[in-house]
Amino acid sequence: ADPNRDKQIEAHELAAKLYHYLLMNTEQGRSALSYLRDRGMSDRLIDQFSIGYAPESWDTLARFLESRQFALPLMEKGGLLSAKQDGSGYVDRFRGRVMFPIWNRDGKVIAFAGRALGDGQPKYLNSPESPLFTKSRTLYNFNNARPDIRKRRKVVLFEGYMDVIKSWSAGVHNGIATMGTALTDEHAVILSRSAEEVIICYDGDNAGRAAAMKAIPMFEKAGMTVSVAMLPGGMDPDETIDAYGPDAFLRDVMDHPVSAVKFKLIYSRKNHMLEEDEGLRKYLLEAARIIAEVPSAMEREVYMKELHREFEVSLDSLKQDVHAVRETMQ
Ligand code: UTP
Ligand code: MN
Ligand code: MN
Ligand code: MN
Ligand code: MN
Repeated sequence: ADPNRDKQIEAHELAAKLYHYLLMNTEQGRSALSYLRDRGMSDRLIDQFSIGYAPESWDTLARFLESRQFALPLMEKGGLLSAKQDGSGYVDRFRGRVMFPIWNRDGKVIAFAGRALGDGQPKYLNSPESPLFTKSRTLYNFNNARPDIRKRRKVVLFEGYMDVIKSWSAGVHNGIATMGTALTDEHAVILSRSAEEVIICYDGDNAGRAAAMKAIPMFEKAGMTVSVAMLPGGMDPDETIDAYGPDAFLRDVMDHPVSAVKFKLIYSRKNHMLEEDEGLRKYLLEAARIIAEVPSAMEREVYMKELHREFEVSLDSLKQDVHAVRETMQ
């Protein structure tokens, strides 16, 4: 055992308890608590995810840790404190933020994400990388979701913490998110050990769709079957649940993900001007390349027929083009 590591974990666990207490039981936490309630978070949900509040003051946590004999330079390395510029001591890293603890696979707090209450920047401040916390390997909520992921052999990947939490309250207990960074091959490999299938449920805006396009091949490389849940009008899962309710979210979004191929076709379509000949031509050629990657001949035919019906291209020429692409793939 590494004593520094144990101390870091102990400090993070205590900080999470302090922040949660301050949120739920003190005057300082009032505005954060009403912020969370305005966002539709019940006390039960706040409790389940141990959400807390880091007050505005410069040294609430620093004094707390000092009084418990934690070595402050060590706490700075773990990202709970920041060194003062003049070298005269330490201040709290997180101030005036709603605090989301991040757990390792044993359910121990190893980092935090702190959300500004209003439009403050950055929107989310995350703990820095440390020996305790490696973003490229950490998945938010994996410790809570793992039993359900293993049971269903299926995992749902969200973009944000709020998406994971709101979806959990809607009944999605196999949801996780990356830590404000892009998905890595390591994440995909870790998930592939617990599930064969992944549903990508990123925000329904351009950034979310582009990120889904990047994530698909990474999961495929890890041997997983990928589908994509489509969100209405640029919303994210958290907003969708607020706007339409949990049942509609489950029924209309979670229960009807589209296949990775279908998603690529939709994405390509959105990126071409179909009302112009040139745009349509480019789209059809790209679609042929996307369809060519489907291993099953039967499935390829289904997608080709859809294109044929929609765009007045003959099934014959489609088949020829798809075939030609496949020849180059061998
Ligand atoms: P979003 O901007 O979609 O935020 O970023 P969100 O999750 O919907 O947050 P709310 O609902 O407004 O509270 C998605 C994710 O990107 C990371 C966070 O992990 C966030 O959940 N992020 C975003 C950061 O790390 N820092 C930022 O400043 C913004
Ligand atoms: Mn509580
Ligand atoms: Mn987003
Ligand atoms: Mn979002
Ligand atoms: Mn959101």
